[in-house]
Amino acid sequence: MQHILLTGGSGFIGSNFVRFVLRHRPDCKVTNLDALTYSGNPQNLADLEEDPRYKFVHGSINDMELVQSLLPDMDAVVHMAAESHVDRSILDARPFVETNVLGTMTLLDAMRRVDPGNQKRFIHVSTDEVYGDLPLDQPNLKFNETTPYAPSSPYSASKAGSDMLVRAYHHTFGMNICITNCSNNFGPYQFPEKVIPLFVTNLIEGQKVPLYGDGSNVRDWLHVDDHCEAVLAVLENGAAGETYNIGGNNERSNLQLTHAILEVMGKGKDMIEHVKDRLGHDRRYAIDATKIKTDLGWEPTRSAWPAALESTVKWYIDNEPWWRNVKSGAYREYYNKQYARR
Ligand SMILES: NC(=O)c1ccc[n+]([C@@H]2O[C@H](COP(=O)([O-])OP(=O)(O)OC[C@H]3O[C@@H](n4cnc5c(N)ncnc54)[C@H](O)[C@@H]3O)[C@@H](O)[C@H]2O)c1
Repeated sequence: MQHILLTGGSGFIGSNFVRFVLRHRPDCKVTNLDALTYSGNPQNLADLEEDPRYKFVHGSINDMELVQSLLPDMDAVVHMAAESHVDRSILDARPFVETNVLGTMTLLDAMRRVDPGNQKRFIHVSTDEVYGDLPLDQPNLKFNETTPYAPSSPYSASKAGSDMLVRAYHHTFGMNICITNCSNNFGPYQFPEKVIPLFVTNLIEGQKVPLYGDGSNVRDWLHVDDHCEAVLAVLENGAAGETYNIGGNNERSNLQLTHAILEVMGKGKDMIEHVKDRLGHDRRYAIDATKIKTDLGWEPTRSAWPAALESTVKWYIDNEPWWRNVKSGAYREYYNKQYARR
């Protein structure tokens, strides 16, 4: 049996990862260490509270004593806890450095103290945004694992810093790490500040969708279950010290994405409200995922549109109490502030 310490398991990707692991690996146990920040939601895993293979620990990755007390029972750490939203990092970068950089260092130092022989695995879940962006007029250019880092937002800079620390701890101390850099995820339980659940839930509420700039920025869309499968493949078979890029082969401009959502939901283009562009908005992300396909046999099978987008829209339609709860209170304050800036 493998016992995984998952950090950030109450967030979007983390909660999907818990379900994915328990569904596909009956012998595995998952302990979820989560600080329950604004994006961590215990409701995401409420149905697993009675499952003996799942345990929740409320606490921060910055709490060295707590992390050290959890690690002896674990075979591996899958590190997803983070401040994850670019727009929030533009408003205030400090929590991003505290959690993404210092929190990652605390985990690494705790691993070294508890496991000096480097028996335990450490999988660091990161983003393709560490590579910066690509021009719009060269569609054949993509990020691969040797692309130099050039992060452009405070969020991606903090993730790049954490990736560098993880690499350095492998090089210096021989830690048994892998890094994954993936493209934009979509699927159930995503906090509705991110574009797909934001637009879908706005439309259900009869509100317009705020599209940044002219909508020409391009993203590669990866279904969260494809991402979870890839992270599991890296956990089980990735080579120590290696980085794996994970993509969905599913590039769309934000305008194409918006039109696709409007079409699935039977709404007109009059529901688009063009708003002032995000500061420093990256133009295009695109992933070359050849390495993970060649080395680990993984490729996306759940990300293709329109089916994957339709099932995601349906999830938000079917789970209205979940997102109405999330969209109330403190989040509403943030939303009003964010869009009032334009
Ligand atoms: N969402 C994407 O499209 C995407 C793409 C590439 C990489 N990633 C990476 O995947 C990971 C998960 O992203 P997500 O979209 O699920 O984010 P999320 O914001 O939905 O979830 C983050 C989780 O981390 C927890 N957390 C924050 N600070 C913590 C701390 N100090 N200690 C313990 N827990 C803490 C939060 O409570 C929350 O549950 C992040 O590392 C992110 O950088 C996300």
